Amino acid sequence: MIKILLVHGPNLNMLGRREPEVYGTLTLDVINDRMKGLAEGNGAQLRIVQSNSEGALIDAIQEAADWADGIVINPGAYTHYSYAIRDALTSVHLPTIEVHLSNIHAREEFRNHSVISPVVLACIAGLGWRSYACGLQSLIDILQEEGGR
Ligand code: DQA
Repeated sequence: MIKILLVHGPNLNMLGRREPEVYGTLTLDVINDRMKGLAEGNGAQLRIVQSNSEGALIDAIQEAADWADGIVINPGAYTHYSYAIRDALTSVHLPTIEVHLSNIHAREEFRNHSVISPVVLACIAGLGWRSYACGLQSLIDILQEEGGR
């Protein structure tokens, strides 16, 4: 069975209340339920972590090396400056897809750059909760194709 870690970075626990015009009105629990449903529908297993702390996110990524086949991550604001999260992703060698609710390229200049994107398979941004759905479905498809080879 394909196993995936879904990682949410800082302030994503505030979804629903946090700038809904930018991030949408769905809460993190609702997005997580939808992603669990998507994973189950594809016969995959999903573990979900949200933290506001860089170290806890790094711990979760490092631990994933022992059990996960891939990672979907929304690093939140760490996207733009966390070399530590980038290094953690590089160290575990797991196929990873970066997702963002908002289109980071169409926003403030500091959000236009991701230090994470160069070390991941793909970055999906601007589709709201559907960025997660696209990222997760694509990762499952890729891992299933690899497994079937
Ligand atoms: C975000 C974009 C980041 O710039 C921001 O700091 C977030 C959320 C997004 O999903 O659109 O926390 O990653």
